[in-house]
Amino acid sequence: MPARKVYLDHSATTPLAAEVYEAMKPFLQERFGNPNSLHSWGREARKAVDESRASIARLINAEPREVIITGGGSEADNLAIKGTAFALQGRGRHIITSAIEHHAVIDTCKWLEKQGFELTVLPVDETGMVSIADLDAAIREETILVTIMYANNEVGTIQPVREIVRTARAKGVRVHLDGVQAVGHIPVDVKDLDADLLTLSAHKMYGPKGVGALYVKRGVKLDPLVHGGGQEFGLRSGTENTAGIVGFGAAAELANRRLEEGAVEEESRLKDLLINGITDKIPNAHITGHPVERLPFHASVCFDYIEGESMLLRLDAAGIGASSGSACTSGSLEPSHVLLAMGIPHELAHGSLRLTLGKDTTEEDILYVLEILPKVVSDLRALSPLGKELS
Ligand SMILES: Cc1ncc(COP(=O)(O)O)c(C=O)c1O
Repeated sequence: MPARKVYLDHSATTPLAAEVYEAMKPFLQERFGNPNSLHSWGREARKAVDESRASIARLINAEPREVIITGGGSEADNLAIKGTAFALQGRGRHIITSAIEHHAVIDTCKWLEKQGFELTVLPVDETGMVSIADLDAAIREETILVTIMYANNEVGTIQPVREIVRTARAKGVRVHLDGVQAVGHIPVDVKDLDADLLTLSAHKMYGPKGVGALYVKRGVKLDPLVHGGGQEFGLRSGTENTAGIVGFGAAAELANRRLEEGAVEEESRLKDLLINGITDKIPNAHITGHPVERLPFHASVCFDYIEGESMLLRLDAAGIGASSGSACTSGSLEPSHVLLAMGIPHELAHGSLRLTLGKDTTEEDILYVLEILPKVVSDLRALSPLGKELS
C-alpha cells in the first residue's frame, strides 16, 4: 500500500463534490418527473432544471436563455462547430482553428473538411500560444468560424482570448471558445469577452460526467444536431438529464463560491511550489506551456530520457495519479499533437508529465510528490543508456 494517495489528474476529471452529490440524489429517485410534463412531478423537475441553468449562466455572466445543456463538452464542441457550419454554409465554408485543440474540436473540423469545408489550422509558439497576426492574416471573405480553446488541457496555456475575439469580430466572423478547462477555475465573463459560443463541461468542475453546456449568445443561429421534441430551445432535443443538470448547477454554485473565496490564488501557490520544486530537484526538467498565462492548477513538464508511461506506472504504485501527453487517448504511441505543435522534439515529448491540482490538494500532497518524483525520474534514467549520467 502506498504511504499516501494523491490524485493530481483534475484536468482529466474531478471528483464529484459532496454537495453536488447531495443535490443530485433526490432527482435519481423520488423526484423522477419528466421536466416536459405538466403535472406536479414534471413541474418540480422543470423548476430544478431552470434553477440549474440560471446557476450555470451566472458562472459565466450569461442569460439563462443562452445556456444550452448538452451531453458533455465534446457534444457542445460539435454543436458549436457543426451547428455553425450547417447554419452559415450559404455565406462561406472556411473555418479557422489551432494546432493544439482537443480532439473534440480538431476531429470535428477535420470531419467538416471531408464534407467540403476548408480548414486553416493556426500554428502555436513554443509556449502554446496562437499569434493574433496569424489569425488576422488567415481570416478571409468566406470565413464563418474561428474555434480556439480558452485554455489547453495538456500544457495549461491560456490563449489571448480577448484579442482573438476582437480580431475575428472586427471582420464579422463568429468565435467559439472551448472553455472546458477554464470555466469554473478562472473567472470567465462572456459579456466582457463578447464571444459567440463557449463550451463548458461539468465533470471538470466537480460535477457529474456526461453533462456539459454550450453558451450561445442571443441572436447567434445554429443548426441543431439532435432533432426531436425541441428541448433546449430547439437546439438539443431529448428528455433532459435532470439529475445531471442539477449536479451541474450545484457544481456551478460551488465554482462561483470558490472563485470568490480566492481558489485561484491558493491553487497557484501550490502549483508554483510544485513547479519550482520539480525544477530545483530534477536536472533537465523542461516545464511546458506558458510560464505566466497558464491555468492556476496546472503543471506540465517533460523529462529527458524517460518514457511517460513508465513514469505514470511508478507514480501510480506510489499512490500518485497523474497523466502524460505521450499516452494518447486512442492508445497510440505517438506523442501528443499539442507538444509536437509547440516544437518539442519527439524524444522529449515522450517523457511528458501532467500534474493537475484540485480543490482538496494540500501542501503535504505536493511535498509528497516532490519526495517521490525525483526518485522515479532518476531510477528510470538509470535504465536508459543516455540518461545514466543524469540519474
Ligand atoms: C479542452 C477540452 N475540450 C473538450 C473536452 C471534452 O469534454 P467532455 O469530456 O465533457 O466530453 C475536454 C476533456 O478532456 C477538454 O479538455
